[in-house]
Amino acid sequence: MKKLVIISSLVAAVAFVVSCHKTTTTTPTGTQTLELPATQYKYFTGNVSDSTADAKATLGRVLFYDQTLSVNNGVSCASCHKQALGFADNMALSMGFDGRPTLRNSKGIHTLLPNSSRMFFGTLDQMMTTMRTPLFWDGRSDNIVDLVKRPITNHIEMGINNVDQLVSKVNSIAYYPDLFNKAFGSSEVTMDKISSALGAFMVSLNTGNSKFDLSLTKGGTLNSLEQRGKDLFFGTYNCANCHLVSTNSYSTEDTNSFRDIGLDINYTDLGRGVVLGANTSNNKGKFRVPTLANVALTAPYMHDGRYKTLDEVIEHYSHNVKGSDNLDPILRNSDGTPRKMNIPDADKQALIAFLNTMTDLTSITDVRFSNPFKIK
Ligand code: HEC
Ligand code: HEC
Repeated sequence: MKKLVIISSLVAAVAFVVSCHKTTTTTPTGTQTLELPATQYKYFTGNVSDSTADAKATLGRVLFYDQTLSVNNGVSCASCHKQALGFADNMALSMGFDGRPTLRNSKGIHTLLPNSSRMFFGTLDQMMTTMRTPLFWDGRSDNIVDLVKRPITNHIEMGINNVDQLVSKVNSIAYYPDLFNKAFGSSEVTMDKISSALGAFMVSLNTGNSKFDLSLTKGGTLNSLEQRGKDLFFGTYNCANCHLVSTNSYSTEDTNSFRDIGLDINYTDLGRGVVLGANTSNNKGKFRVPTLANVALTAPYMHDGRYKTLDEVIEHYSHNVKGSDNLDPILRNSDGTPRKMNIPDADKQALIAFLNTMTDLTSITDVRFSNPFKIK
């Protein structure tokens, strides 16, 4: 009898050691160990009625940074969406799990739903499903939960093309049952839970403390160069016609609009046309107007990352707009030819100074959004 007890506690001890051991996972860059704070961070502040919202965002954070979600344990969402870079990356095209490039430039994520957490009241699920917005450069997804399934199962990005394979992978990692249990009241791993936790983390990412935000809401002020840039942005050059930058509330908003800004005469990427079908020829070459929140951090620019600096972007509007078929009317002269804004250097500097006021340094240093894994 005694012997049996000893044996079974030995088995338990071995099992314990094994499960501890499993919390470190080997990746091509080293061994990753999960380190979460004893008290869970608060991601939502009373506006979300779901009592496990913070636990879902915590799980989402772990999934977001976990390289073991990819087929070779070498790529996580954060490989292409880096906190220090406004959750974008610094390559024209990002690299997927086997070094193959993505088709488009990575997009900053914490600007996804800039105002949602502030203005929304309800459950987290309602927040994620009602805050529909067309996502991606071509607007091919209109729901965050649906969208997050795509990078994981997308061949080029993370190499996992089978949902069951991902679920069983997550299931086999020791730290997940507890995190799923806290978030969903059961340790069972499903693809829907994975997406919904990632979605929770993503809607919790917010910008709202840039110099520009503070000038709108907390009585902060812009210096004279920045103010001049703001006036040019709204006035002389009509940038705000497309880039909806609020003048009386937080930050910059994404818009539902898709525009052709004359990057190429012959479209190499049909953009919105890919989604709506190339037959609808008036959608070719149109891309979603990007948010400008944190724009100084998210170089290179445009859907294909063709411009390395904001200076080059402004030079585009100044002299390089091409007469493509669907060129936006705002960027045409009255005779239909492409409009050249001929922006003088001093105005360029002012516009850039204004764009720089949209950087929210708190969001890129906030520990709640940082990598919870230590890599050795
Ligand atoms: C290999 C690089 C790569 C990886 C890994 C990756 N992404 Fe992306 N992500 C991109 C690119 C490139 C785009 C833009 C694609 C497009 O618009 O066509 C994008 C776009 C997005 C967007 C849309 C943002 C917007 O404003 O429209 C979200 C959200 C997103 N990714 C979340 C994730 C999540 C969550 C993961 C992990 C599960 C992930 N990404 C993994 C490269 C990557
Ligand atoms: C006709 C609508 C329109 C106007 C006017 C316009 N933009 Fe844009 N802007 C866009 C679109 C659409 C894109 C993305 C194009 C693409 O990648 O194909 C873009 C891209 C950008 C980017 C790059 C953002 C990124 O994340 O890659 C910056 C910066 C920018 N515009 C600033 C400006 C400024 C400054 C002005 C005024 C001088 C201006 N825009 C005028 C529609 C417009």
